[in-house]
Amino acid sequence: MKDLFEKIYKDKGPLGKWASQAEGYFVFPKIEGEISNRMKFQGKDVITWSINDYLGLANHPEVRKVDAEAGVAYGSAYPMGARMMSGHTDLHEKLQNELAQFVSKEAAYLLNFGYQGMLSTIDALVSKDDIIVYDVDAHACIIDGVRLHMGKRFTYKHNDIESLEKNLDRATKMAEHTGGGILVISEGVFGMRGEQGRLKEIVALKEKYSFRFLVDDAHGFGTQGKTGAGTGEQQGVQDGIDVYFATFAKALASTGAFIAADQEIVDYLKYNLRSQMFAKSLQMQLVVGALKRLDMLRTMPELKAKLWENTNALQSGLKSRGFDIGTTQSCVTPVYLKGSIPEAMALVKDLRENYGIFCSIVVYPVIPKGLILLRLIPTATHDIQDVNETLDAFEAIRSRLENGTYKRLSASVAAAME
Ligand SMILES: Cc1ncc(COP(=O)(O)O)c(C=O)c1O
Repeated sequence: MKDLFEKIYKDKGPLGKWASQAEGYFVFPKIEGEISNRMKFQGKDVITWSINDYLGLANHPEVRKVDAEAGVAYGSAYPMGARMMSGHTDLHEKLQNELAQFVSKEAAYLLNFGYQGMLSTIDALVSKDDIIVYDVDAHACIIDGVRLHMGKRFTYKHNDIESLEKNLDRATKMAEHTGGGILVISEGVFGMRGEQGRLKEIVALKEKYSFRFLVDDAHGFGTQGKTGAGTGEQQGVQDGIDVYFATFAKALASTGAFIAADQEIVDYLKYNLRSQMFAKSLQMQLVVGALKRLDMLRTMPELKAKLWENTNALQSGLKSRGFDIGTTQSCVTPVYLKGSIPEAMALVKDLRENYGIFCSIVVYPVIPKGLILLRLIPTATHDIQDVNETLDAFEAIRSRLENGTYKRLSASVAAAME
């Protein structure tokens, strides 16, 4: 019989196979220092464009104070047990009520992590006769949630309403046969390329088709809409979103997440979300910290204003210097360049070592072969000097990419990869 580990010894997986060239630098980098616009990487100062601390709350003195005080008051254990058994408190309820009110829903329920919470939400909302229709570019937590579904599922082309309609036609016919319902899932803001989901058009399809709509607004919550209540607010369709989801891991700069919906739906989820029923309750320090962050989100609109000032300066600067930033409609700022994976590695090294710029890099198979995506996340902690230094650095690396410098520098890596 085969040893179970045999495949692991042979094949480290699509990402793991790059470990020897990439680990510690391109993946699992250690970015050190206080979370802000400038941190340290391998002892060097870098402008950090890779952290989703949109509103600059991560290291805000008021937040740090509340986090520290809550740590002293509650430790990291309290409350023990799952919400249903022994992990329920007034403050968990208070946070849920405030979140619900903020995103204009009747009720909300806390999740320990966005990823697990989304899996569990999808799992709880559908039974085997139901059909899921979801955007093909959806985040892994949606894809993995759909994997748990025992019934049919269809993807529609990314943000393509015609393709969604085609799949809703198929799903409707199938649902008539199975006797189930339809769940449509989109992101509010797609985190890789920054486009907003076409929530308004999707909600409008409810006139024509019968379905319920779940939105993952991880990147929209706190950054989109007049009050920061997210992409539903931004597009004026929050009412048409049946189940709204966001994480604390981005604009709120913490850990945890929530779903919000009509009271009856949240009451149902409370008793059926396996990620919450069978896991320890969100620890109190995180609950108290989230209450503080939410309060700042509501009362300090200047944070979101600064985020957008930086976003606009960065995106308009890139565009005016001729960079392709795709179709972003959010703070997520992708920069597309043409080159091979070894060239991309040499380019990122140059950016980090010689220009002090730290941003994420995405290559094939996440995006088409021959493209390099540098992903920049502006925050409220950046300033115009960060933006200008970055724009100058990007111009310099683009000309080196075009004159073949990185091809030459990466020739040995390229040979090793063949
Ligand atoms: C779109 C989206 N959904 C869900 C998650 C998962 O959230 P969490 O980090 O709270 O698990 C992320 C990443 O954090 C995300 O980008």
